Amino acid sequence: MIEVTQLTKVFDTTRAVDAVSFTVSREEIFGLLGPNGAGKTTTIRMLTGILKPTEGHARIGGYDIQEHPLEAKQLMGIVPEMANAYVDLSPWRNLLLMGELYGIPRKEREKKAGSLIDLFALSEKMHHRVRTLSKGMHQRVTVAMALMNTAQVLLLDEPTSGLDVESARLIRDIIRTSREEGTAVLLTTHNLQEADELCSRIAIMNHGKIMAVERPENLKRAIKCSTSVEVAFAQEVGEHEVWFESVNRVERKGDRLRLYTEAPELVIPLVVDYSRSTQNLILSLSTIGPDLEDVFLQVTGGGQ
Ligand SMILES: Nc1ncnc2c1ncn2[C@@H]1O[C@H](COP(=O)(O)OP(=O)(O)OP(=O)(O)O)[C@@H](O)[C@H]1O
Ligand SMILES: [Mg+2]
Repeated sequence: MIEVTQLTKVFDTTRAVDAVSFTVSREEIFGLLGPNGAGKTTTIRMLTGILKPTEGHARIGGYDIQEHPLEAKQLMGIVPEMANAYVDLSPWRNLLLMGELYGIPRKEREKKAGSLIDLFALSEKMHHRVRTLSKGMHQRVTVAMALMNTAQVLLLDEPTSGLDVESARLIRDIIRTSREEGTAVLLTTHNLQEADELCSRIAIMNHGKIMAVERPENLKRAIKCSTSVEVAFAQEVGEHEVWFESVNRVERKGDRLRLYTEAPELVIPLVVDYSRSTQNLILSLSTIGPDLEDVFLQVTGGGQ
């Protein structure tokens, strides 16, 4: 449903997207995972026809977005990076307007808007101006708008970024349901857990390039290897002294030592024992979740 070939966008001197290729089929959720500035939004904007590629092609349902933009756009539901609801209109009005844009007959668009209002738990605020809604509710409206069109392809740019747990979960559930109904979903995120939970394949993107396309199992392994315990002692300690069993690697980060391990629960007691036996006070001790940079190194072969 989505076919991207050697897609490239150059802004002045920046290669924001650099010869990116991938495909997404029906009933698949494909993730673009990468840090700020990786080129995720630029990729999505080329797919939606907002930006013209410098080189390469993008096809939606077989239609080239540059050559047949209308046909391609009819197949898409889009959640842009910046919410696009009219803030002076209510969720209800925004949904109807979206339906009108897609040429859905009046009765049908009212029915669809009504069911989306229910689905996104927006009924209480359906006639309030979007301006007065919380961020989570505003984003629910944005995603609901993308679903007004019975889209075969959903393009979602950070659909859950910065949302409360409940809104994020609701949106993820709805994305899953869309997939089950046969939609091809492309989403961007810098949330490792989200990519892992939702996607069947994940493209790891950095500096405009796709470094690797992974299945979540592989990502999980990389995530495991990137968990660490960070400790600061009162007196200086050498890296080799805290290289306990089940520690894979030790790194110094300023006045702290970072102990990479797949089992922080085993390492923490060893750190405490070490502190007792050497009478070297622990100033701080914490478990650090996987960090995108670390996972990048792992999957792209830079790690150990
Ligand atoms: N309109 C533009 N003009 C010039 N440079 C741009 C433009 N849009 C994006 N860029 C540059 O392209 C690169 C990729 O940006 P993009 O917004 O695609 O990243 P992103 O992966 O979506 O990041 P984020 O996670 O922060 O949303 C960045 O270096 C950015 O500064
Ligand atoms: Mg972006």
